[in-house]
Amino acid sequence: MPRDTGGDGDVLKVLRAATAAEHERVEESLGLMDPELTRERLTAVLRLMHGFWLAAEAGLDAWARREPDDAADLAWARRRRAALFADDLAALGSAGGSPARPELPPVRDTGEALGRLYVLEGSTLGGTFIDRHLATLPDLSGSVRLRAFSPYGPDTGPMWHAFRRAARAHVAGGGDADRLVGAARATFAVLADWCEPARAAAGA
Ligand code: HEM
Repeated sequence: MPRDTGGDGDVLKVLRAATAAEHERVEESLGLMDPELTRERLTAVLRLMHGFWLAAEAGLDAWARREPDDAADLAWARRRRAALFADDLAALGSAGGSPARPELPPVRDTGEALGRLYVLEGSTLGGTFIDRHLATLPDLSGSVRLRAFSPYGPDTGPMWHAFRRAARAHVAGGGDADRLVGAARATFAVLADWCEPARAAAGA
């Protein structure tokens, strides 16, 4: 889906513009809005997502141990969702186990944590569209209710707004916006590469 990538000084606008191309690459490889998406392909995508989230959350967990107050302010415990991908895979009848994970850079400070969180939390926005689409698929509808794509239900808006407020406050308080944006770009680049095999599987 094309997105408005206009940017001024606002860090959220910069984040969106700086990662738009990688977002599109991810969307295209995953193909989740495909009307002919099969259960098998969805399972393969969820496996990729599970491995990515495990890697992304490991870095954030290490940051949260070093910066517990910042992590609590961001409600980090509530935002963890690797386990939801494992649950969704189980609901689809796929054994969880320990999936392959991509290599991600460490999260060195709260600015970098915000950059990584931008990628993870933003996915809940597209997630509501994805969930609605999955409910229309004959292969899935009625039988499986997935949770990982839109984990917050009616709280999606408030959780995203709280994240945005925290990112803006960090920059307004003297935090380095470039560091935040750099971490988001690095995270998105790893994700986009990680998702490429799904594109091949779709025959695109
Ligand atoms: C096929 C899969 C995907 C589709 C169809 C999709 C679609 C969308 C859509 C429609 C929006 C805009 C929502 C709105 O403005 O209300 C959005 C936002 C976003 N998505 Fe995705 N998305 C997908 C996968 C992902 C994944 C896997 C990630 C990252 C893990 C991601 C990260 C983001 C981010 C960060 C935003 C927020 C952009 C901003 O407004 O700054 N998306 N997505």
